[in-house]
Amino acid sequence: MTLMHDKTAPRLRPGAALVALWLAAAAVQAAPDALAPGGRWSAYTAGRAATPPMGWSSWNAFGTDIDEAKILGSAQRIVDSGLAASGYRYINIDDGWALRRQQPDGRLVIRPDRFPSSTGGGASSFRPFTDKLHAMGLKAGIYSDLGRNTCSQAYSGDDTDLPKGSVLEREVGLYGHVDQDIALFFSDWGFDFIKVDGCGLRAYGADSPKVRSGQYRALAPVLDLQSVSRSNIPAVQAEFTEINRALQRSNPDGDYLLSLCVWGAADVRAWGKNYGNISRTSDDITPAWARMLTNFDSALRRELYAHPGSWNDPDMLYIGKGDFDAGHLVEARSHFALWAMLNAPLMIGADLRTMAQPLMDIVGNDDIIALNQDPAGNQATLAYDADDLQILVKQLASGQKAVVIFNRGLTPMEADLTAEQLKLRKDAPVTLTDLWSKEKTSFTNETKVRVAPRETRIFRVEGTRALAQGLYLSELPGSVNPAVDGVVRPQADPSIFRSSAGWSGTKGAGERPMYAGWGGARADSTPYGQTLRIAGKTYGAGIGVLANSRLEVRNQGYRRVSAEVGVDDSAQDRAHGVTFMIYGDGKLLATSKPQRWGQAAQTLSADVTGVKLIELVARGAAAVNEQLPVSWGEAALLSR
Ligand code: GLA
Repeated sequence: MTLMHDKTAPRLRPGAALVALWLAAAAVQAAPDALAPGGRWSAYTAGRAATPPMGWSSWNAFGTDIDEAKILGSAQRIVDSGLAASGYRYINIDDGWALRRQQPDGRLVIRPDRFPSSTGGGASSFRPFTDKLHAMGLKAGIYSDLGRNTCSQAYSGDDTDLPKGSVLEREVGLYGHVDQDIALFFSDWGFDFIKVDGCGLRAYGADSPKVRSGQYRALAPVLDLQSVSRSNIPAVQAEFTEINRALQRSNPDGDYLLSLCVWGAADVRAWGKNYGNISRTSDDITPAWARMLTNFDSALRRELYAHPGSWNDPDMLYIGKGDFDAGHLVEARSHFALWAMLNAPLMIGADLRTMAQPLMDIVGNDDIIALNQDPAGNQATLAYDADDLQILVKQLASGQKAVVIFNRGLTPMEADLTAEQLKLRKDAPVTLTDLWSKEKTSFTNETKVRVAPRETRIFRVEGTRALAQGLYLSELPGSVNPAVDGVVRPQADPSIFRSSAGWSGTKGAGERPMYAGWGGARADSTPYGQTLRIAGKTYGAGIGVLANSRLEVRNQGYRRVSAEVGVDDSAQDRAHGVTFMIYGDGKLLATSKPQRWGQAAQTLSADVTGVKLIELVARGAAAVNEQLPVSWGEAALLSR
């Protein structure tokens, strides 16, 4: 927080001025300065998600109509087909497993007819089931809800698969039972993964029909998918904090994975990375092309909000149904390639007992899986962006890259792919390996790539880096964390495709922008989607962020950090100055002069030899100014 000198403030008598100063100082002390260097990586690293989780979930295939045979059948095929060896290891039970919460002790009971192995001992237990999965070399996942009741209880048309009994017995969600349930799931039952849904905090307001009819108790909604301003963000975060504490207690070995499922609501696209291993960025996917686009878009421009340990989750794969079934292999391949490039969790959502071989081959493409599981953890960034064609580039740990050229529409395209888009030298050969056909081609400077309707061409790339002695930070989103992104009033992101294949049909006034995150930090773009530019000079590489922001950067042995800093030309605020600072492990290493709109960029650079965590702070003269985009042009880590 900065102290403002407000010329319009009434003049104070000297004594009063002292008191005011003292009060202001006390306020500064009370509210910690979010821009002060923390000296540590603040995104989530607990649990086990160094790379995005891979596995299978029951939801897309079966909804709540689940049973042990269906789940274990899919698990068996994962093993037999070799998918387990390719990395698919989480077998996740989604909604529909709970029968009731036993009274008065509150212990959860599993549906005995659907999970016969749960009835063997005294109390209902998933232990025989998880033992089986573990013996197969797999891991086991379970589902619960932040509220008292789950999503199917709120939205299912009939109650065949829903919990039974009294109102209290049907409260199978975590609310009021966090410690008890987490201990049951992880210590007693041996699960390794939990998906925590949010319907209990969304759908059970006092005026909802199911509450009014007496079926469920009311719980004041704090999540509103349509409107971030109607969501109570701290209340949702507090619940996840409580769940995290319980997870630590029940998993002394740290082998767990926490999946946040609040569908991009409550600005979670900005903070999910601090509370769990994967975090849903949108409402549910459906097996419709247009809906896949919505989910893809919800994660696409959040490249800096995903890192090893904290991934964006655009929802499970829908390969095997509708627009992604065996009759639509082009679409199915696109869906898979795009999820891989986004570092999305690869959770198969099909009944694997009957999945056709060509679809098995898609999800089993080891070269594409390797991109998703690359240890550097860099989500792909947009190198070319239009509504119908996009080019995404992903920097790999090996120094190679991957690129996809994605045709979103129905017109065949001939795309230009340039060395510049790949941040490679124009005068040296670039080799592309097609990750479906394995065919290799080479080009210098630029080439043409044919992309059929809805096709995604995907290649591994080798070439000579344009920046010889290091990497641009925008090539390393997995190592850059916008700890404070400068957004103070979250607004809906208009760049996400609004599909009519949504959840309310086409009644009403249509799909409106609803996922907050507009104005967040970006790689190679301003926060509002424009080209980075300072005083007329454009930057093909750099980080765009709002003033009053702090970026954490993990340093992997580089010796220098440097950037050309300034207020971006796209800023409407032409009055306020911004000071740029570089910190290394909490110590100030370099400071710019205050920069205003229109002033040429200053070069800011610091020796970071031996430094583990670099922090890049842009502090505005105004305490709060969300309209002030700044650019860290050509920000890079250099070896000398
Ligand atoms: C929500 C989630 C889905 C699924 C269902 C279960 O809609 O977003 O992924 O878990 O609930 O009811």
